[in-house]
Amino acid sequence: MLLGVNIDHVATLRNARGGNEPDVLAAARICKDCKVESITTHLREDRRHIKDADVEAIRMLPRVRLNLEMAMTDEMQEIALRLRPHAVCIVPEKRQELTTEGGLDVAGQLNRAIEFVKPLIEKNIEVSFFIDPDIDQISAVSKTGAPFIELHTGRYSEAFGTTEEEKAFEDLKGAAIFAQNFGLKVNAGHGLNYQNVVRMHEIPNLVELNIGHSIIARSIFVGLEQAIKEMKALCEETVIK
Ligand code: PXP
Repeated sequence: MLLGVNIDHVATLRNARGGNEPDVLAAARICKDCKVESITTHLREDRRHIKDADVEAIRMLPRVRLNLEMAMTDEMQEIALRLRPHAVCIVPEKRQELTTEGGLDVAGQLNRAIEFVKPLIEKNIEVSFFIDPDIDQISAVSKTGAPFIELHTGRYSEAFGTTEEEKAFEDLKGAAIFAQNFGLKVNAGHGLNYQNVVRMHEIPNLVELNIGHSIIARSIFVGLEQAIKEMKALCEETVIK
């Protein structure tokens, strides 16, 4: 499995004091040097962590694959069409939430979703929808023309190590296989850490995992390069010494 690193929380820390420390672009360069598949940022409506200038600067880095997480709003569509990131992941967004709390309801706004992704796909931006492991949502995405889904692993991550884990895991696995049978490619993410990520290998043909909080948290103790290397090794199933 490939690893996309979400660096939003480098910006969270920077914004706590203003100024430019820690430098988001320096973090992006470390991700690049670690040869991660993508650098992921979520440009939220309230710009609480990543700012427009961050996204623009990362987009300018050579040989970096930018995955822009964004809400399904006209403002974000305009930004994506202007910046042309390599990929966008369309996520639900509520102002008060601490982080993205659930998957997007694509089935409930299918026509809007189809119209929204059309110009993005025309510009060769790889589109994914961030959805819960739910058959109706997967069927809806398959009608939009988007080639990818990103499965929300939050429920599995929270259930990890409890009696709820197996059910949450089977839901994810079943959803991934169901989506692949529709011809969709499947990414996954949210709440994954150095322990619960290992079971993602039991899900066939996952393309990419997008992981942020656990990597940035670990980087405080071991440095960003080491934190990324350890997670990359877990994704690639190699053992790090
Ligand atoms: N994927 C999506 C669509 C997300 O919204 C987030 C959180 O921004 C992540 C992955 C990464 O989640 P975490 O920070 O919990 O690893």
